Amino acid sequence: MSESVTITDNRNGESIEIPIVDGGVDAGAWKKLLGNVWFADVGFTQTAATQSAITELDGEAGILRYRGYPIEQLAEKSTYLEVAYLLIYGELPNAEQYEAWKHEITYHTFIHENVRKRFMEGFHYDAHPMGMLVSAVAALSTFYPESKNIADEEVRNKQIVRLIAKMPTLAACAHRFSVGQPFVYPDNRLDFSSNFLSMMWKIAEPEYQADPVLAKALDVLFILHADHEQNCGTTAMRVAGSSHTDPYSATAAATAALYGPRHGGANEAVIKMLNEIGSIDNVGAYVTAVKGGEGRLQGFGHRVYKNFDPRATIIKDIAHDVFEVTGKNPLLDIALKLEEVALADDYFVSRKLYPNVDFYSGLIYQAMGFPIEIFTVLFAIPRTAGWLAHWQELLQQDQKIARPRQLYTGVPSRNYVRIGER
Ligand code: CMC
Repeated sequence: MSESVTITDNRNGESIEIPIVDGGVDAGAWKKLLGNVWFADVGFTQTAATQSAITELDGEAGILRYRGYPIEQLAEKSTYLEVAYLLIYGELPNAEQYEAWKHEITYHTFIHENVRKRFMEGFHYDAHPMGMLVSAVAALSTFYPESKNIADEEVRNKQIVRLIAKMPTLAACAHRFSVGQPFVYPDNRLDFSSNFLSMMWKIAEPEYQADPVLAKALDVLFILHADHEQNCGTTAMRVAGSSHTDPYSATAAATAALYGPRHGGANEAVIKMLNEIGSIDNVGAYVTAVKGGEGRLQGFGHRVYKNFDPRATIIKDIAHDVFEVTGKNPLLDIALKLEEVALADDYFVSRKLYPNVDFYSGLIYQAMGFPIEIFTVLFAIPRTAGWLAHWQELLQQDQKIARPRQLYTGVPSRNYVRIGER
């Protein structure tokens, strides 16, 4: 059997055979025969927009690997910063590289005082932290104008370090502002996750001591969220990056894409949904309403995973560790019942809708004391590493500027009519 497809233009009988390479066919070959016939692929469900060597995802088999390493091994044995290095530079760091990387990240966690005082504190008191984060990340480009020099590898690496290091600081800053608490400066003695927890929760103690189980759980959640190949946010990163904008502006675009409830905003939406359900007794009626077209089960379904989301499996285990420290989240029972009812229902089974990464992550965050408005921010912090890995990759590939076609469905040509004559 030939590993190729044959396309025939029935208007003139011309044919072309296109090889299937790495599971895809090259649009360039299609173009030779059908230069003016576009693929209609709204939502890019059948389009490979790039080649990428970063993350491998097999939705049917429930496989997720970063640079070849199974997510289960990384979650168990690695740290978020090690994984960030792996994603961006392609290999796990050796001991010397890791120490240097940790040192670099740690010493770039501070933000310019004007970012905080003039910019972050200019928001309305009840501003959503994701809105603040999107804007603050974009604003960083004005503080580091050299970041426009994307052709310079050294400059690129500096901005990568800055972005990974400053995301938790901006996130915690947004939270502290929203609850009227003073900003907590980064503590360079602490590891990445503990430092973030310190900036979130420290009150007056000289050194905030994060519970090691919670700091570890957060670090694993960061690993699980660090990359997920060409999702909406990463595609936004690649699209913006392809115009050769600076990395802060591109990361702001990606963060904005992540904000929506169909993407990173789902973890927040899950808690709202569970609160709305309110009791195990109401689960059946809620599921019936969803089946009847009233909204969606938040934290269910995935464009790629059609059997299970491997991240959700790991997260369910972490939830137990966290709840041992924090006490059980009262919404857990509703979530478990919802999962049980949905997974036994043909509507969800036939559409291959399973709990995704966001179904349990929100319960963990809530048990750890995070307000729900900051959940998506907790997703953006580690996803920054993935976005930057893709940004580096697209520049190394010298990727063309992203510019899809459209199928025009509007009115045909017509003449302008003066306002008084309409
Ligand atoms: N609840 C109920 N029905 C659903 C759901 C859901 N969560 N998700 C999909 N469906 C139905 C949908 O109505 C459609 O039914 P029909 O064929 O009868 O029209 C069918 O399943 C296929 O849905 P789709 O919208 O074509 O699927 P998609 O691949 O475009 O959407 C999704 C994927 C994640 C956007 C969607 O499943 C969804 O909205 N889920 C809820 C939000 C969510 O949990 N998002 C987080 C995704 S994981 C984190 C991340 O990567 O950002």
